[in-house]
Amino acid sequence: MGSPNNRPTRIFSSHHHNTPPCTRSHQIGALLLVASTFFLTRLFDHPFSTCPPSSLNHDHTSQNVVHFSDGGYLSWPQMGYGTHLSLKIYVYEEDEIDGLKELLRGREGKISADACVKGQWGTQVKIHRLLLQSRFRTRKKGEANLFFVPAYAKCVRMMGGLNDKEINHTYVKALSQMPYFRRSGGRDHIFVFPSGAGAHLFRSWATYINRSIILSPEGDRTDKKDTSSFNTWKDIIIPGNVEDGMTKRGAAMAQPLPLSKRKYLANYLGRAQGKVGRLKLIELAKQYPDKLECPELKFSGPEKFGRMEYFQHLRNAKFCVAPRGESSWTLRFYESFFVECVPVILSDQAEFPFQNVIDYTQISIKWPSTRIGLELLEYLESIPDEDVERMIAAGRQVRCLWVYAPELELCSAMQGIMWELQRKVRQFHQSAETFWLHNRTIVNRNMVEFSSWKPPMPLP
Ligand SMILES: *[C@@H]1O[C@H](CO)[C@@H](O)[C@H](O)[C@H]1NC(C)=O
Ligand SMILES: *[C@@H]1O[C@H](CO)[C@@H](O)[C@H](O)[C@H]1NC(C)=O
Ligand SMILES: *[C@@H]1O[C@H](CO)[C@@H](O)[C@H](O)[C@H]1NC(C)=O
Repeated sequence: MGSPNNRPTRIFSSHHHNTPPCTRSHQIGALLLVASTFFLTRLFDHPFSTCPPSSLNHDHTSQNVVHFSDGGYLSWPQMGYGTHLSLKIYVYEEDEIDGLKELLRGREGKISADACVKGQWGTQVKIHRLLLQSRFRTRKKGEANLFFVPAYAKCVRMMGGLNDKEINHTYVKALSQMPYFRRSGGRDHIFVFPSGAGAHLFRSWATYINRSIILSPEGDRTDKKDTSSFNTWKDIIIPGNVEDGMTKRGAAMAQPLPLSKRKYLANYLGRAQGKVGRLKLIELAKQYPDKLECPELKFSGPEKFGRMEYFQHLRNAKFCVAPRGESSWTLRFYESFFVECVPVILSDQAEFPFQNVIDYTQISIKWPSTRIGLELLEYLESIPDEDVERMIAAGRQVRCLWVYAPELELCSAMQGIMWELQRKVRQFHQSAETFWLHNRTIVNRNMVEFSSWKPPMPLP
């Protein structure tokens, strides 16, 4: 369904879903908050469908169907989602494209994915691995809705496997071997940039991938950079990688403490990094040490602060403050949900994942970073415990969305990402360097048909 039903040619692109349209009220109902509702009604595909049985017949009178005077019709996807996930994602293979191996393992091929999966930037590996096992993966480029370009560039750079210049050149080399990238100008290609640098990790990102879908936890990297690479309407904010030991159900490294057992009102665990907000917090903690805990932590060397110790501290306050550092996102925000302290965001430009389904006012507090002082502590102190408990309970419901779990888990970061990706699917592809003829043949500037395009492709 989807394409005009009275002729075989594809005038309007067809949507893949076969489910009937739901009414608008179902959509709104499902968007209310709570990911659990969202996931129960949508992720279980059909059995628990939001559509009542009465709409299960092919009802072309629905609001998202446009009728033509000649009897044809066109159905619109629902709010860009569809009623269930139906995606085909092609994952580029390491050996298929010259350069991908270097972007995954460094110039000597020695950096292991297992080393890269750890720590706050592990999302670049986890998303890749989950996609390889996904039921939405296709091995046929011709039928793919989206293309995933795997790279562990952040990790490879940190481990000395490639320098900035090499990363830039290698990306450009890899992209020039992808006819499908050229066909759409990169609009259907997905990249992960797991750190605060965002797509800036690839120096010439703005020339080559500024139309692509970028997955990053970072919404604003303006420190030491002129511009932010994040674009609200095309990119997707992903949760940072919370350590697996922390997210494990039941057996987590640090179990939450009852509110009454927590020693502090709030805490800040992190380095100053010369940042105004952080320095103010450290100052404040010196003045009010019984309210705000801000221990001096060793993040390297022999007395390096252990993860366990870190979580023990984190869980010992009702509120965990998450100030801006070099960049606007901080892993502490996500971690706080697993030790069950209410995150207080002190990072004005921060962006948050899955805003279609999560109402952040129910699970966190955002306070102006320009008002860090006694006023903040007094405010936090004035919040009754019932309210703290309520926010913690709401956070407990959505935190499954921060966990990069296998697809069988109905609520996970990956499921959230898939829903966001589904909204980006375009049936038609074009760019400044693609052209089409009367017989629907796609050609390049030299009138060569798409199927005969040969790498290296000319890039912008
Ligand atoms: C990135 O690589 C491309 C292709 O080799 C080159 O043209 C461009 O100048 C490089 N960008 C930077 C910032 O070095
Ligand atoms: C995106 O790339 C195109 C082509 O190189 C360029 O003209 C445009 O200015 C870029 N946009 C941004 C926001 O960098
Ligand atoms: C489409 O039209 C062009 C120009 O007439 C022609 O060269 C090409 O072979 C046609 N393609 C197909 C698939 O018929």
